[in-house]
Amino acid sequence: MPDYRLDTYVNKVTALEDCRFDMTLHNLSDGPLAGAVIGLTSITRMADDAQVHGADFRRRFANYHEFGMPDGLVVPPGGTWTFGFTGITGRQPAQRNDGPKSAVLIAGGVNHPVSVGDLVRLPVDQSQGPLRSVPVEMLEMPLFQIPWPAGVDIDAWREGMHVSLGDGGIEDRRALMAVADLHSRLHSDAAAPLTLGNDGIALHMRQATLGAEAFTLSFTGGGITLEYGDAAGRHYGLVSVAQMVHAALAEPDRFRIPSKGRITDAPRFGWRGSHLDVSRHFWSAAQVCRFIDTMAWAKMNRFQWHLTDDEGWRFEVDAFPELVEIGSRRGPDCRLPGQYAHAHRQYDGHYTKDQIRHVVGHAASLFIDTIPEIDIPGHCTAVLAALPHLVDPDEPADSYRSVQGYPNNALNPALPQTWDFLEKVLAEVAELFPAKWVHVGADEVADGSWLTSPRIQVLAQSEGLQGTAAIQSWFLRRVQKILRGHGKDLAGWDEVSHGAGVDTMGTLLVAWQRPELVPALTAQGYRVVASPGQAYYLDMTQADGWNEPGTNWAGTVTPEACYAYDPEGDLDEGSRGALAGVQACIWCEHIHTPEIFNHMVYPRLHAVAEAGWTPQSRRDWGRFATLSALMPKL
Ligand code: ACM
Repeated sequence: MPDYRLDTYVNKVTALEDCRFDMTLHNLSDGPLAGAVIGLTSITRMADDAQVHGADFRRRFANYHEFGMPDGLVVPPGGTWTFGFTGITGRQPAQRNDGPKSAVLIAGGVNHPVSVGDLVRLPVDQSQGPLRSVPVEMLEMPLFQIPWPAGVDIDAWREGMHVSLGDGGIEDRRALMAVADLHSRLHSDAAAPLTLGNDGIALHMRQATLGAEAFTLSFTGGGITLEYGDAAGRHYGLVSVAQMVHAALAEPDRFRIPSKGRITDAPRFGWRGSHLDVSRHFWSAAQVCRFIDTMAWAKMNRFQWHLTDDEGWRFEVDAFPELVEIGSRRGPDCRLPGQYAHAHRQYDGHYTKDQIRHVVGHAASLFIDTIPEIDIPGHCTAVLAALPHLVDPDEPADSYRSVQGYPNNALNPALPQTWDFLEKVLAEVAELFPAKWVHVGADEVADGSWLTSPRIQVLAQSEGLQGTAAIQSWFLRRVQKILRGHGKDLAGWDEVSHGAGVDTMGTLLVAWQRPELVPALTAQGYRVVASPGQAYYLDMTQADGWNEPGTNWAGTVTPEACYAYDPEGDLDEGSRGALAGVQACIWCEHIHTPEIFNHMVYPRLHAVAEAGWTPQSRRDWGRFATLSALMPKL
């Protein structure tokens, strides 16, 4: 148990300048405490002009705040040090997770761990709960399918029994085993729904003239016939069979297997994705594979791996080993200070190239493309800490700050070494990831970025660029050329369109800031993936209560609201072809344990999967909510 404990209280006010954080550090050690410094991470940040009380303010870097004990203060064992500040920047705290998440006490040259409590809002009242709930039991038929198929026409049912492939060729057998293994990884406590042999319900498979991802399942007394367009359709048909058999075996009172009738199925969209942030919180390769398995069980097919951000660079680059050696580490005595849940010790994590290949191969075996996200030009604090030669020496320090509070965190397009860096990194990325797209971020470059840099001023003059957005567009067009040289298309967040944007040919933009950006970007000629924060950001809170974890800049996103969003809702008939599909986003400032992950991600991930697969007219919240309880989690 740590020898120190930090509790934080906030008063309930609306004005940011009146918002007061009161902190109590309990000394539970055997010795007196004096002359110590506390470093704490709080997503609610102290304003630059805040009034600090009971402490000497030392520094703040994004969420990391450092306070010293006042001279002469001695806290005996069992005693407390109270301190805090009045005045915050950004948004009012709205959840118990909006205060310090972690802390380190630096005393006598030693870094001591500190136990950190939830933020407590005073006065405590009933509005703190309840947590989100999902209704159950709205089943019209005893069939388990998520996503729900396009066409279901069933006349008779039979009890659960495993399904066996006796007469298939080797490719069919391999395909079946891939899905059987997926099931056993996800449901290791359950009976196997699919086997090779002749001892279960007979399965027959054949290729037919259907779309590549399409399939039909015909049920008769003699067994099940799966007809599929291509290997992907065969895979999805097998997942459908595995799902219905799994449910019938696991919950025989509620679920059955069809014995007469037909399922006709094909996805609504080609892009059924999820993103995962591994920078704020590092998820191991094994956890990432498990997450991919849960996507595959819902027939999702795109994994956007958010590998870099201000808080950490997460994969090996041969040309720049410092990216991992320095840029993947944060905490006491590191070049990057601690952030979020990990202030008290060095926190690090990265994937080797072999691990990346393993994850990419694992996803590919489940018909999921892995799209790497290298977030540039903003969100580059970790890069600039690791490679100081990329910092513009003439740009005044702290001349702009990102929305997360990072000073001067964008790569400078006017430095030749920036281009040497990008050419080498993108060459390695292009080689490591076979997907057609490289996602280059381009989000949240702070207004005013670069403008005080003398080199940028020369570039802007010679290229006729006015303002940050125009410079970003110039930068991204050059990045697009590099990617094209490697046979890759550029993907990015919706801000890629800012300034003059980029060449729309082959470009794919993930629209995140507002639903209205979906029609706005298709009108500009971009191909678009719908991922509005207001519906598909799975780090948003799911109920209004203080106790519900998450953030709320895009509002409260109940599972039902997530399900209800129609990605085509704002598009006229003529623009629908430009909508590539849908994507969930999992940002991990608050999601830093498997328990929080499971609470936040499911069932909303599967709601996005169903929007991506099931025709709008076949979607049904009550059915989905009932069935989603059986879906596997991390
Ligand atoms: C984003 O949420 N910054 C894409």
